Amino acid sequence: MSAKRTLLAFVISTILFAACGKLIPTDGRIDIIPLPGKVTSNEGHFVLKSSTKIIPTFEAEGMQNALAFWNDVMLDVLGQELIVEPGAKSQSGNITIVQDGTLGAEAYRLKIDKSGMQIAASTAGGAFYAFQTLRQMLPTAAFTEAGGRIEIPACEIEDAPHFEYRGFMFDMGRHIFSVQEVKDMIDILAMHKINKFHWHLTEDQGWRIEIKKYPKLTEVGAWRDSKVLGWGDVKPDGQRYGGYYTRKDVKEIVEYAKERFIEIVPEVDIPGHSQAAVASYPEFLACDPENKHEVWLWQGVSPDVINVANPKAVQFAKDVIDELTEMFPFGYIHLGGDECPTSKWERNSDCQALLKEIGSTNYRDLQIHFYKQLKEHIAQKPADKQRKLIFWNEVLHGNTEPLGTDIAIMAWIGADRAAEVAASRGMTTILSPQIPYYINRRQSNLPTEPRSQGHGTETVEAVYNYIPMKGVAEKLQKQYLGVQANFWTEWVEDAST
Ligand code: ACM
Repeated sequence: MSAKRTLLAFVISTILFAACGKLIPTDGRIDIIPLPGKVTSNEGHFVLKSSTKIIPTFEAEGMQNALAFWNDVMLDVLGQELIVEPGAKSQSGNITIVQDGTLGAEAYRLKIDKSGMQIAASTAGGAFYAFQTLRQMLPTAAFTEAGGRIEIPACEIEDAPHFEYRGFMFDMGRHIFSVQEVKDMIDILAMHKINKFHWHLTEDQGWRIEIKKYPKLTEVGAWRDSKVLGWGDVKPDGQRYGGYYTRKDVKEIVEYAKERFIEIVPEVDIPGHSQAAVASYPEFLACDPENKHEVWLWQGVSPDVINVANPKAVQFAKDVIDELTEMFPFGYIHLGGDECPTSKWERNSDCQALLKEIGSTNYRDLQIHFYKQLKEHIAQKPADKQRKLIFWNEVLHGNTEPLGTDIAIMAWIGADRAAEVAASRGMTTILSPQIPYYINRRQSNLPTEPRSQGHGTETVEAVYNYIPMKGVAEKLQKQYLGVQANFWTEWVEDAST
């Protein structure tokens, strides 16, 4: 080796050594969102470095996903993955994952001191959430500076979710987002230990999911003649806009969510909020097929709802559900049910006749009758295709008896009262109050706030201070499955807005 080369090798190895060795200190703060059940700060810290190993001492479904998540973080902050040595004798300086069957499915305990980190969980899901907590404990500088050693403050954390259902809804109908943007959102949800991604896939303004049996839903229904949605002083801009998720896209997103311990709740909002579907197949979905039907260009609630008295419309809904159950291997399907004007049914002779036939005078009961047939259709499926149906709380305005009690109500408008009504009818309840859980509203009064829906201001503080179970009668509490935040996209044209 020439002297020049020797010098170069020396300089490179010195630089590498310095990079590997640079210490990123902790500021000692343990700020985790959502706040864990119990946090005890202790003296000192653990130093995470590239020689730290991960030692899982039990096998569980999904453990590889939990480990892969952590190693992605390590790649980011240390420039390399940690070695995983399952079952290795627990050694000092490592991250050990032990099983504790007394903990709930998503619970974990985390103990960090200078000799190592120990995660206790009963499932891989618990370990995954412990890793999410650990990620939030890394100093910010770990993500921005190249460092070889990272301090994590010594502490003990005990954590378990209050609710089984922790959801977030993302509206694709008003504006559609790329597969990558959806995945980015899923990452953010996982980081906050949210375990349900409610994917709002259809609207008056666009049908966003490929349904093989009904290709016009995406040939026609996924496209409209304006990017922006008319409202107030905003006029449609004449720009052709749209898109949809193919089967392949859906598969990719389903896998991505599963790897992050998130279940997808797909929503097709029927029979209201369905103008895009009606525009695709007016011959059997419209109450007035003789008139022209287009994908909607406006914000608000369209009166152009599905004709629930047409047997072909009922068959359409069953076929769509069949394809949803194939695509989404999870426990729930959401059929919408909010803001469904009955004016077109009231003027349609088939709807008038059907209302008589079911012995009611309340047109809302036609909606219930429609859902009843869909629920019965699902009930005939094999066990792996059974799904629990979720509806927005307006369905409670009808006689819900034909639907039985084995459904879930998502309470958004007059949420506390609606949830109480659902629970007292024996139904499952998910609280999703528009105040303060609609995060498409303004989050401050600063002039820099983007345009947003509604006039309310929903601050992070208000969201954090909302106590879902406050005032809920003890005997109804077991009906409350969880909570959900919603993100409607009328004013959100892309990820930057
Ligand atoms: C809703 O906000 N229309 C559920």
